[in-house]
Amino acid sequence: MHLVAATEEQRVQRDTLTYSEWGKLLSLDGYAAREKRLRAHPWARSDMRTWLLCGEDGGVLASCETFRTGSFLRSDEGSLVPGDSFAIASVFTEEHLRGRGYATRLMDLLAAELERQPRAQAALLFSDVGPRLYARSGYQALPAWDWHLSPAPGDPSGPVDSLLREDGLGPALGRLRHPDVPFYFWPGPAQLDWHLERGRIYVEHLGCSLPASAGATAGASTILWGLVGRSAELTVLMLDARSTSETWALLEAARREASRSGLSRVVLWEEPSHAPFLALLKGGGAFRVARDGSLPMVRPLRPGLPPVSPLLPAPRGLWV
Ligand SMILES: CC(C)(COP(=O)(O)OP(=O)(O)OC[C@H]1O[C@@H](n2cnc3c(N)ncnc32)[C@H](O)[C@@H]1OP(=O)(O)O)[C@@H](O)C(=O)NCCC(=O)NCCS
Repeated sequence: MHLVAATEEQRVQRDTLTYSEWGKLLSLDGYAAREKRLRAHPWARSDMRTWLLCGEDGGVLASCETFRTGSFLRSDEGSLVPGDSFAIASVFTEEHLRGRGYATRLMDLLAAELERQPRAQAALLFSDVGPRLYARSGYQALPAWDWHLSPAPGDPSGPVDSLLREDGLGPALGRLRHPDVPFYFWPGPAQLDWHLERGRIYVEHLGCSLPASAGATAGASTILWGLVGRSAELTVLMLDARSTSETWALLEAARREASRSGLSRVVLWEEPSHAPFLALLKGGGAFRVARDGSLPMVRPLRPGLPPVSPLLPAPRGLWV
């Protein structure tokens, strides 16, 4: 068995097989168009690959995708060393080929391939099948708690200093404080816009509108959000929360934006740094729930990376 990078033609063939798994709400043609559009997005064009596990006869046994994402390793002297990390998506084995170890083999060969990339730091994935399959290939799970907040009436700009726009993702991201941990992933503006592109594709199927804003600022705190997929929800992509009152203001603005856009709730992936502020928001339309699916799992790709720690943040903006 060996690993190959798929050609565009092979990717399109794969789309017809993965439609049954990931095509909900869309026709087969609509799903093929979604995949083509997402692959044409600048973030995907910068370095998205589809990988095929092939048998000796060249037949495809399993597949997945990788996206390059930024990450930083803190050196012993405290300086930040930028590197490349890889987010893995769409791990797939056709039904009649399942249970023979092909996905595991694919993950092992892919890790070996990614380890050879010159700036490689870590691989990241979001498991919808629990931790066991990926733990075999060296991935470790991070905590996965979500906050669900009900929509609230009112002007979203009321509680905050400013609302952010989609064309301002770069400067907005520049306001965010980087995590104070030895290693972390850090998305770029194109990566965050890729989520919004998914929302632009799905909005016509959901009976809601695209949110008019892409986030907000309150004091030193910043939030970035969007409609990002096939759920009519306002999803928080990044939250740099500096105080309880600023966190409350940003989330209240999110609840109002959800209401204005006809969305059913706000969903926030909890990060370790949010915990002290969020605990005070419990009740009054805010609930903490164990996440269903999308379990973040991380695998170092080079020696010298710190062990995977539950303090490593995995914001929704990193999801693929
Ligand atoms: C998940 C998937 C890729 C596994 O492929 P595979 O080639 O059968 O994988 P392997 O033979 O290497 O390993 C199979 C393991 O995956 C586990 N697995 C498969 N689907 C699972 C699910 N829905 N929930 C939990 N575990 C699951 C099997 O139980 C098995 O574990 P075990 O050997 O410990 O019993 C395949 O089932 C698939 O394509 N599913 C649909 C798409 C999907 O869910 N992809 C994963 C997204 S994170």
